[in-house]
Amino acid sequence: MDYNALIRPELAPMVPYAPGLRASDVRERSGQEHIRKLSSNENPYGPFPSALAGMRTVLPHLNVYSDGAARALRRRLGEHLGIPADNIVVSNGSNELLRIITQAVLGPGDECVYAWPSFVVYPIVTQLMGAISVRVPLAEGEVHDLPAMLAAITERTKLVFLCNPNNPTGTIYGKAAFEDFLAAVPEHVLVVVDEAYFEYVVNDDFPNGLDYFDAERPIAVLRTFSKIYSLAGARIGYGIMPEPLVAAVNKVREPFNVNTIAQVGAFYSLADEAEVERRRQENQEQKSYLYSCFDRLGISYVPSETNFVYLHTEKPVEVFEALLAKGIIVRDFGTSPALRVGIGTPEDTDATVSAIEAAVAELGAF
Ligand SMILES: Cc1ncc(COP(=O)(O)O)c(C=O)c1O
Repeated sequence: MDYNALIRPELAPMVPYAPGLRASDVRERSGQEHIRKLSSNENPYGPFPSALAGMRTVLPHLNVYSDGAARALRRRLGEHLGIPADNIVVSNGSNELLRIITQAVLGPGDECVYAWPSFVVYPIVTQLMGAISVRVPLAEGEVHDLPAMLAAITERTKLVFLCNPNNPTGTIYGKAAFEDFLAAVPEHVLVVVDEAYFEYVVNDDFPNGLDYFDAERPIAVLRTFSKIYSLAGARIGYGIMPEPLVAAVNKVREPFNVNTIAQVGAFYSLADEAEVERRRQENQEQKSYLYSCFDRLGISYVPSETNFVYLHTEKPVEVFEALLAKGIIVRDFGTSPALRVGIGTPEDTDATVSAIEAAVAELGAF
């Protein structure tokens, strides 16, 4: 049987998304009992208490399909965001929305422009459709080079992904740069602004994608409950987009794409703004503490608007292994001279600082 003849040729060069190591993988390997998983930008605290209580109530009713149109949640999100519910799509993680938007928009030979390095799912979903990735290197300071991205747009460009803040570097582009970009981007291009880390941002110059949403121009803003709301395992995200795009996405998505537990968890999470603020503040404090450690040890890092910090190192494999031996999982990027360290609890930060100090003592300067 020739499976190569069976399977679409677009899939041949693709590499499946590689999730970070799980705690259970590392426990045995490191011999450490307490594993700190700082590799997937999750929040260290659990789902909000109101979300947990709500999710428990639906367990006996899982014999019934979820609400395929997520009516209650979309209405609630609409109130929360000040956006009509008809412009909101709920998805099985924002990841799903990245895929179904490309399925709705990209065809073979179309071009999709995105920054690089950026979120690893953009090349995957582009290749899946047989479309062409146009990667624009980040500018100095590891920020999106919006003028260069504009210059990379051609007649064949259908989609631009903007990751703000950017994963893995944690950087943002500012309001003026975004406004110049939007003023010049041609109408035939859909701009997808991926704001997975929106709730962590404290910089006043951050352009909230929704401030530029007028339900007319081809712009979609994606957010998720996986990060500050701690519902990563439930899988729920959402997007705000003009109605014609909502209609297209609704044709592509599965009938009951978001399960009931996730819908209810997200619904109740929105009630607890104080907890969002508490988590944002604590994240800021932990980041500052980590920066002071990096400064003291002469480690080069990129100031971040997210719950992770990108650091430069000529020894990514050695540093990764040294931290792993202490039970700390960070993210490496194959051959890139960099690592991404997630922000966890204050205890996680203390452990990370000690492990990094020990790694410097063992390996010398990074
Ligand atoms: C930039 C970015 N976008 C989207 C996602 C997908 O998140 P989810 O599918 O959990 O909503 C992630 C997850 O890490 C991310 O970093």
